[in-house]
Amino acid sequence: MCGIIGYVGTRDVVPVLIGGLKKLEYRGYDSAGIAVVNGEGVEVVRAEGKLSNLESKLGEMELEGTFGMGHTRWATHGKPNENNAHPHRDCTGRVVVIHNGIIENFLPLKQKLQAAGHQFKTETDTEVVAHLIEETMKSGARFVDAVRSALKQIEGHYALVIINGKDPGTIIAAKHGPPLVIGIGENENLVASDVAPLLAYTRNIIYLEDGEYAVVDQKRVQLFDEHDNAVRREPKKILWDAVMAEKEGYRHYMLKEIHEQPRAVRDTFTGRMFEESGDIYFNELELTPAQWSKFRRVHIVACGTSWHAALVGKFLLEEAARIPIEVDYGSEYRYRNPIVDEETLVIGVTQSGETADTIAGMQEAKAKGAQLIAICNVIGSAATRMSQGVIYTNAGPEIGVASTKAFTTQLTAFYLLSLYVRQLRGEPVDDRRYAMHEMRVIPHKIEHLLKTQEKHIERLAHKYSTAQDFLFLGRGVNYPIALEGALKLKEISYIHAEGYPAGEMKHGPIALIDENLPIVAIATHTPVYDKVVSNLQEAKARDGKLIVICDEGDQAIRNLADDVIEIPWTVEPLQPILSVVPTQLLAYYIALRRGADIDQPRNLAKSVTVE
Ligand code: AGP
Repeated sequence: MCGIIGYVGTRDVVPVLIGGLKKLEYRGYDSAGIAVVNGEGVEVVRAEGKLSNLESKLGEMELEGTFGMGHTRWATHGKPNENNAHPHRDCTGRVVVIHNGIIENFLPLKQKLQAAGHQFKTETDTEVVAHLIEETMKSGARFVDAVRSALKQIEGHYALVIINGKDPGTIIAAKHGPPLVIGIGENENLVASDVAPLLAYTRNIIYLEDGEYAVVDQKRVQLFDEHDNAVRREPKKILWDAVMAEKEGYRHYMLKEIHEQPRAVRDTFTGRMFEESGDIYFNELELTPAQWSKFRRVHIVACGTSWHAALVGKFLLEEAARIPIEVDYGSEYRYRNPIVDEETLVIGVTQSGETADTIAGMQEAKAKGAQLIAICNVIGSAATRMSQGVIYTNAGPEIGVASTKAFTTQLTAFYLLSLYVRQLRGEPVDDRRYAMHEMRVIPHKIEHLLKTQEKHIERLAHKYSTAQDFLFLGRGVNYPIALEGALKLKEISYIHAEGYPAGEMKHGPIALIDENLPIVAIATHTPVYDKVVSNLQEAKARDGKLIVICDEGDQAIRNLADDVIEIPWTVEPLQPILSVVPTQLLAYYIALRRGADIDQPRNLAKSVTVE
């Protein structure tokens, strides 16, 4: 996701900003820009694509100053081009803003500001912040007070850094969601999205908390809470090396990405579902009820983990759409001569957007006249370029080969799509409002799950790490999670594992069960809960070791299982987003125990671009 760096001090600021942005490149981006204050003027230079494009532009200019900020953008609102690249300015060009996150209510604010005469130059949600500050300053307010007022008007998730040419030497940094840190130097201070770009200058770091903002100049850092009360916080001494800093202190990218899921899921639904009106809105996918009604069938094409997300998607969409839905592996779909025509909607699901088999399947469908949409994490990738509509999963770059946050954001995208279909079909708005509320609280539930279960799962991983085989069981919407749990374990620990529908166990895999076989089962409350319990009893009767993922406080499961992993309750269609997390952690800690190369498992590539 977007990278942020701000500097005030005595050094030549351009190399500080470019050097800092390079340290943030690992977060992924599609454009970059910097702002440098010189006198009262603010010079902004931006470029599409890689940082080298920005550097070439800067090479042709003489930009001097000791105060400024830089940004790498991962597009959410508006295309990834130079015009939408940050920093963004108000009408005077002096109030300059960079931002990571999503301003949910930017549209009504923008309309109000336009009516008051503000000229907007970009398609971004961010620009509204600069104009809001300008508007308040027009009536004589100080820069800091105008920012305070803007922060009270905006809704959503943001890490914002703001400067004002008329107030040289003051950086304001505000956090509500995405991370922001402040580096305390000698006669210089910095702000950034994480510590990686700060380590060249200081190891004294203050972490901003949600709702807080900081007023930073060369000598001082003042912190305030959301009610504008001063906050005192001592800096922490960070001893990480550069690689650890990129992993934010986690031992592996995979673990970092598991922990990023609350943020990633939130970024995927933010700005797309509006509880008050009950509306779903996708900025890169527009379908009218008439267009939707022409579809007779839906095909979903994907590979690996994305294919598991597609299976959950089928469950959700079929219920919403009441038309037949088929899910295929890309590698099968392209050769099986599927029945596709212009009344077929084809959804390609791919984190990278470059998986050769998925792309080939999508091409096949397009050639046969299908409407094509992509659920994808990478802007500008092959899957997005060939599709008529895209739902971006705002997971941010996924570096660990084993997919985690990409999967839960794909599930989020399918959930939103199923609500969108209900909206297109004219279903009652009240049901959608409730469904949206349940979605909105999911990030808190993932946080709670990580907090209460991670240590316990690590202990279980030690207990079971010498097993040679695992069986994963689930039913209904949790059956794909059994498949995903088995895949994750295979990929990174090299233990043989199979995922099965719990009801299918008696037709074969039951022969494998003895006291040496750990069985990971998902038994949350769904209409088939009792059936799953019966299946588990059958496994228990054959001495299988039951590790059961269940709802918090489920005593019946506790009495039956050898070990339980409790997850917070949620509605059935959202359960997979929670039930998959323990399977990710179990695979991770078993692989760790066995000394495997977790982020780069043998024989695997992050994106399989060959057939
Ligand atoms: C998941 O952990 C995998 N590494 C793999 O199965 C992956 O999901 C698959 O190759 C598809 O990739 P994509 O989502 O980028 O298309």
